[in-house]
Amino acid sequence: MARETWATRLGFILAAVGSAVGLGNIWRFPWQTAENGGSAFLIVYLAIVLLVGVPGLLAEFVIGRRSNKSPVGALRDLSGSKTWGAVGVFSVVTGITLLSFYSVVGGWILRYLLESGVSLVGSNPAYFANPGQYFGGVSAGVDAALYHLLFLGLTALIVFAGVRKGIEFGTKIMMPAVVVLLVGLAAWAATQPNAAAGYSFFLRFDPSVLSENFFAILGPAAGQALFTLSLGAGTMITYASYLDEDRSLPFDGSAIAVLNTSVGVLTGLVVFPLLFSQGINPAETGTGPGALFVGLAGAFSQLPAGTLIATAFFAVVTLAALSSSISMLEIPVAFLVDEYEIERRNAVIGMGVLIAITGSICAFRPDIFGFVAGTLVNALLTAGLAAFLLFVGWVMGRDAIDEFTSGVGSFGESLATPWLFAVGVILPLFLVFTLLSQFGVDAAIGFWKTVGIAAVASVAAFFGLRNANSVI
Ligand code: PHE
Repeated sequence: MARETWATRLGFILAAVGSAVGLGNIWRFPWQTAENGGSAFLIVYLAIVLLVGVPGLLAEFVIGRRSNKSPVGALRDLSGSKTWGAVGVFSVVTGITLLSFYSVVGGWILRYLLESGVSLVGSNPAYFANPGQYFGGVSAGVDAALYHLLFLGLTALIVFAGVRKGIEFGTKIMMPAVVVLLVGLAAWAATQPNAAAGYSFFLRFDPSVLSENFFAILGPAAGQALFTLSLGAGTMITYASYLDEDRSLPFDGSAIAVLNTSVGVLTGLVVFPLLFSQGINPAETGTGPGALFVGLAGAFSQLPAGTLIATAFFAVVTLAALSSSISMLEIPVAFLVDEYEIERRNAVIGMGVLIAITGSICAFRPDIFGFVAGTLVNALLTAGLAAFLLFVGWVMGRDAIDEFTSGVGSFGESLATPWLFAVGVILPLFLVFTLLSQFGVDAAIGFWKTVGIAAVASVAAFFGLRNANSVI
């Protein structure tokens, strides 16, 4: 059976943007920004997107397009080593882990959308009366599990339909709808009283917050940058594996990063003015995944035409979440299709059943949910991307340069060598450092010692790879 490919270039870009734009931008980004100093976080996050995210995205694209395989087959075939294939299996685990918690959040959103939509005719949505209590009641337990299954079912349906008819067709409709609705909401939010306080919290840059909290901000900002660009899970390897022609990967990668970041910022321009217009200061709403959710629902309840606005908002979030969740499910599905020649349909059903179970565990146990959505996912993505980068830098080497430069002009060609150096040396070091800092190592033993350990770990990984693969 011939392997599937994207029908058009735009289709690929939209699918990748669809994967990137999701709950990471809308739910996680404002929450993380609020918790980590507002605009100071924004600056560090933007810098990491540019300096780590874009080169990292290109690394995943290079692996995917070169091999035309999903991560396990890609790493194994390009290196000729089974060890690397085993490293690829990590991405299958990461895909399943991601969707297990993501589908629960998707379920919450779906519930709020249905509740708001139904209330368009009739009374107010139930969550208007007491948003905190409502969220507490539906965010875990049987309700959360049922809506998780519904969201997962929708995701599976799209992936079931295949690369062109499902993912490409779906994202072509969903992404423009997300942007149009968000622009409308942002314009409307600007007319709300006290919106200016929201903009200032979000956009006014205060260097002292940055310099005082730089290292505390670094870990969450890096985690957020990887999460939002769908990096480290092999999603972008898998999507690029369906590319069959030569086109400029640096161009596509930059376009995807710019679009994704714009949607993130646009979401901030909706969320922060709205919260401030209702007298809610996000820095004070406490921590936890539900905090901002509750704040927004509260803001909607105060507004004229609040139900309509809420319906539009949750519709955006549902579409954005679906176009990301399909990219998570595609990782293990592509693995089964590529490696075992299982039919796509059966692969979707098998993985769907598995994630129905793992997601239900997250739905019933908020403690497990919190661990999976935060620490575990951050660690898997950071470690996963570090492995992909080392692979590109040390195993692919020249081949990576060839793949990077195919279809680019002379400007793009001049970027190839600095890119390979960054990808092979600097960025893995940075990622190992952030990985250690996520576990509090830097706080425990100090900054320079942590840098030292990160350097030693990277060098050890390098020599390990050298021995495992005669190619370098
Ligand atoms: N980028 C997606 C979002 O922002 C999440 C994601 C992470 C998707 C990793 C695929 C892989 O919601």
